[in-house]
Amino acid sequence: MGIFRKMKEYTRKQYYSAHMPGHKSGKFLPEDLRESFGEAVFQFDITETPGVDNLQNPQGIIKDTETKISKITGAKKANLLVNGSTGGLLAAIFTLARNKKIFVGSNCHQSVYNAMIISGSNPVFLTPELDQENGVELGVSPETLAEAVENNPECKVLVLTFPNYYGIRYEYKEIFRIAKENNLQIIIDEAHGAHFNFMKEKFPNAITLGAHVVVQSWHKTLPVLNQGSVLLEGEGLESFNFRENINMFQTTSPSYLIMSSLDAAADFLEGKNKEIILRGEQWQEFFRKIKLRNLIIFRYKEEERDPFKLMVLSKKESGTLFWEIVIDKYKIQPEIIEQGRLLFMLPLFFDSELAERINSALLDLDNNLEDKRILEKLKEPERKKIFTLKQTPQEMSYLHKEKVSLKECVGKICAQKIVMYPPGVPLIYPGEVLSEEIVCYLNRHKINYSLQEGIEIFSDQEN
Ligand SMILES: Cc1ncc(COP(=O)(O)O)c(C=O)c1O
Repeated sequence: MGIFRKMKEYTRKQYYSAHMPGHKSGKFLPEDLRESFGEAVFQFDITETPGVDNLQNPQGIIKDTETKISKITGAKKANLLVNGSTGGLLAAIFTLARNKKIFVGSNCHQSVYNAMIISGSNPVFLTPELDQENGVELGVSPETLAEAVENNPECKVLVLTFPNYYGIRYEYKEIFRIAKENNLQIIIDEAHGAHFNFMKEKFPNAITLGAHVVVQSWHKTLPVLNQGSVLLEGEGLESFNFRENINMFQTTSPSYLIMSSLDAAADFLEGKNKEIILRGEQWQEFFRKIKLRNLIIFRYKEEERDPFKLMVLSKKESGTLFWEIVIDKYKIQPEIIEQGRLLFMLPLFFDSELAERINSALLDLDNNLEDKRILEKLKEPERKKIFTLKQTPQEMSYLHKEKVSLKECVGKICAQKIVMYPPGVPLIYPGEVLSEEIVCYLNRHKINYSLQEGIEIFSDQEN
């Protein structure tokens, strides 16, 4: 029996709670919290009490749910995560890449960098390609990976993000081919691709493609509570104990609300693959019909693009109009609003009201942009296709740092990750030189990167 069904049985028994947490199954609570959340939430919000298994060493209902998820995803073993993909990536890299030189896409999420600090890994960063016309990040190219492999034969682990934040899985077949041919252990951050488990026939998920370890944020695209995620193990990893390492990065009081929602989502979506694939096509068909003059709907090869992400671009828009029209007027909250770019994450069902709203908002925006001029946009600073750092992330984490103003940091070595959230992908890593071009870019975008008070550089740098 999976977690959710067991929890329903458990709550029906109305045990008197003499265990954690302190709300005692909802008996001791601020009244307005009870009213806002409802009673049932607190009855499900237990943690490891007798009879409901143990996430540190699953043997009962948690194991049953993990087995169910491994069957659905095609993994050899699935491990539930209650600390998001963040916890899973820390555990995956700690398990396979401790003190090793590894290939990492430089568009990786900050948790991958943090994992390298903890694990002592030494990254060879691979810079993703950009779509030249619109400046949208695509992904690491097969050529870059092949060149990196040739020059670093001792590197045996590859960490890549598939799909990226914008839903693109750039040249993924070729990337997997090269990685396999060179016997790399492949760790895939599939945080944004949990729904591919239910569309495998058209969009094979990373485990099916042959990844060794895959981390998926089920909460991002599936009907699951925030933080609910999974770490999937592929073939050939029998000698590694992932669960033991996952336990290092997670609470010992896992949320049964989160785990119940993972279990219920697996049951709810199992067997719905055809329907979900069709819904993706329906969204795409809907947007194909919208006629726009000033806005562009980003399109890329259909087989490498998530049909449930909609990116809208305009070279005329600073972001203000997006905000006024999309959020204030049409009451739609997109995933990202920034200069020239809007990203919507669409539901796995076809929500005709949302579709109509997005349609009206886009037409409205398009009209409003008619007489506007194209804005000057400073290009993101370019990086080398393959780059390394002088010291490992762990070594750098011990060095002294100081904060200096943006003016003072030109030519210095950066000591912090410079990250905009969302998407949480570092623009600059500690150890990279702050060139004049980069500082000029950061000056223009300092609010987005929370750099109003300056940047951390390493102390004792020679001038
Ligand atoms: C590409 C990518 N990987 C990993 C994460 C971390 O996922 P989680 O929020 O589940 O910890 C994120 C979060 O936004 C992400 O965008």
